[in-house]
Amino acid sequence: MQESVSEIIEAYKKKFGGDHPVVVRAPGRVNLIGEHTDYNDGFVFPVAIDRSALICGKKTGESRLRLYSIIYDQTVEYPLKGFERDSEHGWANYILGVVRELQNMGHHLPGADIVNSCTIPLGSGLSSSAALEVAVSTFFQEVAGLDIPAAEVAKLCQRAENEFVGVKCGIMDQFISRLARKGTALFVDCRSLEYQHVPFDNPDIKILICNTGVKRGLVDSEYNTRRSECEEGAAFFANELGTEVKALRDVTIGQFEKYESELPENVRKRCRHVITENQRVIDAKQLLKNGDYEAFGELLYDSHVSLRDDYEVSCRELDIMVEILKEQDGVIGARMTGAGFGGCTVSIFNLQDDISHDSIIEEIGRKYAEATGITSDIFFSSAESGVSVMH
Ligand code: GLA
Repeated sequence: MQESVSEIIEAYKKKFGGDHPVVVRAPGRVNLIGEHTDYNDGFVFPVAIDRSALICGKKTGESRLRLYSIIYDQTVEYPLKGFERDSEHGWANYILGVVRELQNMGHHLPGADIVNSCTIPLGSGLSSSAALEVAVSTFFQEVAGLDIPAAEVAKLCQRAENEFVGVKCGIMDQFISRLARKGTALFVDCRSLEYQHVPFDNPDIKILICNTGVKRGLVDSEYNTRRSECEEGAAFFANELGTEVKALRDVTIGQFEKYESELPENVRKRCRHVITENQRVIDAKQLLKNGDYEAFGELLYDSHVSLRDDYEVSCRELDIMVEILKEQDGVIGARMTGAGFGGCTVSIFNLQDDISHDSIIEEIGRKYAEATGITSDIFFSSAESGVSVMH
């Protein structure tokens, strides 16, 4: 991390000149359990990882934004007000979207020169976009002296992605990047936005993230289809059970079982996933509090099966990775994480006996390459803290 911070400061000085820029770091995330529940007003349970989006910049007296991306090696410039979505430089829209939202909220932002970089693998389902949004919002809060409550930051970043970037994501990714606390997982009620930091700091319990290397090609269109199938399900239950059913969050497993045969097959499967997944998140939180990691791990396996068979957002490579993980010594649970159709798995290991991390990574990587021909990026991560301004 220190290396990437020095690199981004150097890049800033070279590109824009000037001393003492503001550096902001916002983490990516891995969701332990609670997938495709956030936009159904349900529960999620992510942790922040030790890979981050970085912003380095300064306010200027000019009414323009100059942005440089280290990853794409591109510099772009926009007027501070009245800019449009940039179809040529997709990465810039995450920054512009947040600026637009802050302006829509009535905040007067200064012009700025900003460099952006990222140690989260892009397009791998570890929320590099949400991390960038949260970093940008925090940067402008710092340079413009704004005090915006944490949940509002998550919401404005989500709106930036929904409205300016055009991706209809839920609130989970922005929420964890803003609110994470080291050594904890974050239980979030995505309806009320109440949350709880649950300790995840047993030194023997490790999180392993395996990137399948499959870019999530189908994800946007399929994501939107799943959302509308869930809405169809919620409307059906509101009709049967009354208007207090606003989302699938309000349907119990018992109610679902009573009416499931009346639902079209796809909608039935989507509802079953969301309704049972919500229960798994509630159970997982309790198990983690009790230190019952074995039972917690079982829920991860169950979640994968539900995402694979009922929600149908897994893919061959994710399934292979989970099967490989299941056979490893010390593993207690594994599943796909994030939106699906590629991206990463999350798995939990109990490594009391000090088994070498490198040999685990090497063995999984070798088996996965044999099965798929793909070289994967595999790494352990602890539960990290949320966004911070580095002075
Ligand atoms: C993406 C979205 C999140 C969430 C997950 C699935 O990461 O950005 O809001 O819906 O997919 O759980």
